[in-house]
This record gives sequence, structure tokens and C-alpha cells, in this order.
Amino acid sequence: MIATESTAARIARTSEPAAMAEAAEQRPLGPLARLVDAELEVPVLGGGFVRHVNLDIAASAPALAAVAAHVAEVLPYYASVHRGTGYPSQQTTALVEAARATVARHIGARDDDLVVFTRNTTDALNLLAAAVPGDTVVLDLEHHANLLPWRGGARRVVVARPTVTETLEVLDAELARRPVALLTVTGASNVTGEVLPIDRLAALAHAHGARLAVDAAQLLPHRRVSLEASGIDYLAFSGHKAYAPFGAGALIGRADWLDAAPAYLAGGGAVESVALDRVAWKQGVARHEAGTPNVIGIAAIARALGEFERLGDAARDRHERALTERLHAGLAAQRGVRVVRGFDDADDRLGIATIELERGSVGLLAAALGAEHGISVRAGRFCAHPFFERVASRANGLRASLGAGSSADDVDRFLAALGRLIADGPAHAYDRGPEGWHPLADDRPRPAF
Ligand SMILES: Cc1ncc(COP(=O)(O)O)c(C=O)c1O
Repeated sequence: MIATESTAARIARTSEPAAMAEAAEQRPLGPLARLVDAELEVPVLGGGFVRHVNLDIAASAPALAAVAAHVAEVLPYYASVHRGTGYPSQQTTALVEAARATVARHIGARDDDLVVFTRNTTDALNLLAAAVPGDTVVLDLEHHANLLPWRGGARRVVVARPTVTETLEVLDAELARRPVALLTVTGASNVTGEVLPIDRLAALAHAHGARLAVDAAQLLPHRRVSLEASGIDYLAFSGHKAYAPFGAGALIGRADWLDAAPAYLAGGGAVESVALDRVAWKQGVARHEAGTPNVIGIAAIARALGEFERLGDAARDRHERALTERLHAGLAAQRGVRVVRGFDDADDRLGIATIELERGSVGLLAAALGAEHGISVRAGRFCAHPFFERVASRANGLRASLGAGSSADDVDRFLAALGRLIADGPAHAYDRGPEGWHPLADDRPRPAF
């Protein structure tokens, strides 16, 4: 085991507010919010440490510092929910119910919508899939979480067209063809960052008597969404992509289908009464939340959403749009790189860019970015295999994604390292194993845990 005192000491030193402020001043566009990994230094091959550049936010985001502080604050009160008679239990119950109200308010839920807490987006969409009383139409550009739960004959997949406008037309035709209960779409592609026109999709679904569900795993942490204003009937999201990585998510939406559906989890808390030969299931959120909920994850989500509100939608938009433009401008100037797109006319995109290389392996490039430059990205097909295979010309892409903790310096370091690796190749030797590319000799120390 390698001694790691110095790793911890480095992290502590560089996370000092004074060091943060000084670093922010030196950068043209600093982070919008403080994340717990701000100024984290990571070891690189051959020795030494560099400031970590986290461009894998679309996969999972570190906690906001305010969220981590909130978790530490509430942990001493952690106790059983709903049934406890002690003071901590009552505070824990209040925390969960206050979080439910915060989520509802933040996303502009209607008064009679349910906010069901789940593990993540995948869980939320599986819950909804078990409640849909009819056919579901889905686009082929979805993450597997919004493709696989709608199974069998009740799922109809529409292949998106080269433009958003044409895609809306084919969806219109599909919805007119046969009765459809639900149209379900991603709010923004996790491969290209392209944002779909939610209001128009809601109007389209409603015109055909269908409802609209939105997979907001990517959208919600980066753009403000309102169910009431946009007409979305159901929305699913994950805490870990919204800077609250403590294992909770949510499904929010209309109560009638959820009340009529079988309990998603059978167990305590979901029932009015039980006899050996009969069960009376509850209605409302309790019906689908059997067992002990993830109180800490739920509290973390509410704190993160509150923090977004404090930062302000306009500031978040300005910050992310400026960095996104910088990233795309830099990628356009790179030789041998093609940015993957789903639509020719998508004029709005989140801070996500997936590239393909004319030559060479994106997996090797991603490994070298991490091991030699301290830059985290992701290589693969991003759990959107049908879409990736349709729009990409290579087997795998490399995705860089940013968020509230990102800075112009992060983007610039990524672009510089990418250019160097494409031109000269990695400085170290790598091998390809079942888990992908890794350094042949990895001398980086590991943290004590
Ligand atoms: C668009 C989209 N939907 C759903 C998911 C699944 O999210 P989770 O793993 O939190 O269930 C992801 C994760 O990457 C995603 O990007």
C-alpha cells in the first residue's frame, strides 16, 4: 500500500477558500458553484499531481459543497421515517416531506401531481412503465433507461430524422396511426447534448390524446423545467446527476395512472392493511415507496435544487452556454475530430460534446487524458447504442461534459491535451483489457480508502 498522507494534505490545502478565490481570479470564466471536488488534485503517470479536470459530469456529478454540508448537518437526526415517536424520527419524516414539496415547487408540478422518490431515473421510468395503460411511443435516440422499460408489443420506436422539424412530423404521423397512451422522450441527449422542444412535444402528444413523459436525467441539472408551463405529464430525474450523489431520484406526475398501477415494490408502508389472504394497498406516493426510503439521498436532492434556485437560472444558463460554446469552438478547430450530432437544426444544446476520431482509438485517448493529464471524460456508446450506431461512423465516441463546477480553464486544458495526444500520441504505454485501455505500468498512488 502506498502512503497517501500527501494526497489528503494536497486536497485539504487546495480546497481552502483563499486558494479557490485566487484560482478563480486567474481564470477567465470560473466555476459557477463550489463542488466538493473543487481543486482536487490527482496523480499522473510518472509522478506529480495536477488539478483534476472533471469533464464527466453527464455520467455523475460530484456533490455541491452546500449539499455535502447539508448531509453532514442532518445526519445526526437520521432516524426511521413515518412511524417513529422520537424527536429525530419526527425531524427525519419532516425532512422527507419538505423535500417532496421542494421538488414539486422546483419543477412547477401541478397541485395534484405525485412526487414519488425512487433510486434514480432508471427506477423512475421502470415505475412509470408498469403504470402506462396502453401503448408507448419512444424515439430511437434515448438512453437505454428510456428505451428498455417499454417492452414488447406496447412499445413503438420511431427513428428520429435528421432535423427536429422532420422528427416532430414523423412522431405526429405515428401518434395518429393508432391510439397511444404515452410519448416518452429525453429532455436532452446524453450523447450530443441536443435539447428537444419539450413544449412542442407536449402539445403534439396532447393533440393525439396521449401524455408526455420526459427523461430529465440530463436536462434538469442544467435547465429549469416546469411541468405546468410546458405540459409535461411525467418527469424522471436522478440526484447523482444533479450534484446530489446519495442514491435517490424521483418520478413526478399525474396521480391517476400511478394510483391504478400495482405497487412498484410490495412491502411495508405501501399498505393500509394486510391479512394472509388479502391486501389493501395505499394510494398516492406511499403505494410505490414501500420499505425505508433513502432519506439522505432525498434531503440531498432538495438541497441541490434549492441551491440551483439560489444561483439563479439566468446565471446557470450564461455560465454553461459560454463554456459549451468554448468547448465546441475548440473542437471545431481540432484536426481529425468529428463532433457527433443527432439533428442538423437543433439550436440548443447542453454542455455535452461527443467526438469521433478520424484515426486511432478514443478509448486509448480517454485513458491517456485521465492517466497523463488528470482529465476525466468517458469513451463508449453511452448507453444509447441504437442512436450512437445510427449517427456515428466509428464504434465508439469520446464524451466531454461540463456543469456548474466547470471553468474555462477546464475546457482549455482538455482541448490542449486532446490536441497534443492526437498529434503525438500518449507518452506512456497502454494495454487493452476487458475493462478498456489502462496504463501498462501504473505508478500513481491511491487514496488511503
Ligand atoms: C438521458 C439519460 N437518461 C437516463 C439515464 C440513467 O440515469 P440513472 O443511471 O441515474 O438511472 C442517464 C444516465 O446517464 C441519462 O443520461
